[in-house]
Amino acid sequence: MRVDLITIFPEYFSPLKLSLFGKAQEAGLVEVKIHDLRSFTIDKHKTVDDAPYGGGPGMVMSAVVWGEAIDAVLKQAKTKPVLVVPTPSGNVFNQEMAIKLASFDHLVFINGRYEGIDSRVVEHYQQSGEFSDVIEVSIGDYVLAGGEVAALVILEATSRLINGVIGNEDSVTDDSFAPGEMQNLLEGPIYTRPPSWQGLDVPEVLLSGDHAKIAQWRKDEALKRTRKFRPELQA
Ligand code: ADE
Repeated sequence: MRVDLITIFPEYFSPLKLSLFGKAQEAGLVEVKIHDLRSFTIDKHKTVDDAPYGGGPGMVMSAVVWGEAIDAVLKQAKTKPVLVVPTPSGNVFNQEMAIKLASFDHLVFINGRYEGIDSRVVEHYQQSGEFSDVIEVSIGDYVLAGGEVAALVILEATSRLINGVIGNEDSVTDDSFAPGEMQNLLEGPIYTRPPSWQGLDVPEVLLSGDHAKIAQWRKDEALKRTRKFRPELQA
């Protein structure tokens, strides 16, 4: 998968060098390119924003500058990419969306700051046909200072679903929310050695070696936890 990230803070994406995502890049499973939005400005102050039409607080990011940056990325694309727009006013991100995003060859993230990006940018690329899809996505009902952290969240959830990124494929199918057995369930408690710590013992069943019984216990615990923390998932 190829990932382009456009931002005024390229350093925000330095964690992508680490851990699974870093390894995925080294293995050639993911190729990342980070673009500094300011390099597409044309004035000497490198302005990326302006006052909102209609008044109101804050600043709006310029469609002109974003258009230049996105067109430059599109010129280098081999296949039609998907445009991902992190915004608190998008569809709420979930495992199903991560699975969908992991199936694409090329994602382009546009990461806005301030009050957001001039709405004509999304409208234009929805109409232009240069992207196979334009996805506006929120990572939850709160407002961040910009899209970068949201893009990191989306990329972390997505990249671990790309074939070959995780060594043990089972750990993906056992995840909370994974399709199949774990659909609409939170993962229950997990333990490793020692069998007793601070007076707390690992549940007997997990030491029994009885795989059917263990699977049933895990399912029961997942259901208990889901009813406690996220009852609406079972409704
Ligand atoms: N930008 C600001 N807040 C956001 C959120 N909750 N999700 C995605 N992008 C955002």
